[in-house]
Amino acid sequence: MSTAKTFKPVRKAVFPVAGLGTRFLPATKVMPKEMLPLNDRPLIQHAYEEARDAGIEEFLFVTGRQKEMLEEHFDYQPELIETLERRGKTDMIEKITNSEMPEGKLFLTRQPRPLGLGHAIWCAKKLIGDEPFAIMLPDDVILAEKGCLSQMVEAYNETGGNVVAVMDVPKKDTAKYGVLDIKSDDGKIVDIQGLVEKPLPENAPSNTSIIGRYILQPEVFDHLSAFETGAGGEIQLTDAMAKLIGNQPFYGLRYEGQRYDCGSRLGFIEANIAYALQDDEIGQDVSNILTKYK
Ligand code: G1P
Repeated sequence: MSTAKTFKPVRKAVFPVAGLGTRFLPATKVMPKEMLPLNDRPLIQHAYEEARDAGIEEFLFVTGRQKEMLEEHFDYQPELIETLERRGKTDMIEKITNSEMPEGKLFLTRQPRPLGLGHAIWCAKKLIGDEPFAIMLPDDVILAEKGCLSQMVEAYNETGGNVVAVMDVPKKDTAKYGVLDIKSDDGKIVDIQGLVEKPLPENAPSNTSIIGRYILQPEVFDHLSAFETGAGGEIQLTDAMAKLIGNQPFYGLRYEGQRYDCGSRLGFIEANIAYALQDDEIGQDVSNILTKYK
């Protein structure tokens, strides 16, 4: 008989999508930044598919003003499907169906004011209830054979507790990330003894940083509910997570895959090149085009 522990399954994922996307203005003046296309689908769909492939059943969007396009995107579009059927474009129908959310699985809540990532997640408290949940930041895109969240769910099934995706960043960049204070590190799983949001390089406990994928226990809401502000005067998720450490297991997973920061123009352009290059339909042509620019 197996003695392996089983942990409560991760069934829900929160997608904080209320952000303004100022770095992409004027492209994001009207259009949500999460709708920017990465190769053939918007950023939000990449995050959705990764979560769905990891076994997530309920998708919780923390949304805001001018973000209605996001919920529309995942809706059934009968006119479009009829037109494609008439034209015999079955491959396109398949692509469209991939962007449909199953009935009763999309939940929306709003973050009325931009008070920080921790506040955005707190807005989903009621929808999460008392179970572990995932968080997907659609700006962080991870190109991987097995989706990053799937890798994390596998790790979580071994460890339980809290698991965040982590990677080493250049020391000079620590002020852009939540940074780990490391207890032990076996090269894949990092046992975390502390977390600091956006420390200056000279104050950073390491250069191992959190990337936008989390599996957290619901007790994080107890700390978020205090509405304490941290780095940048915002209610920080990292600060609430730090308070769980010591009471609950807290791990980082060095996932396999390449992460792109699609919250920056440069990262977004690089991600588009990388995704296009590995696309069966256009990859070779894209590679040929790129040689023109060397
Ligand atoms: C957020 C988190 C930070 C994390 C980062 C990953 O920061 O606050 O801890 O390292 O995402 O992308 P943001 O990029 O929203 O400033």
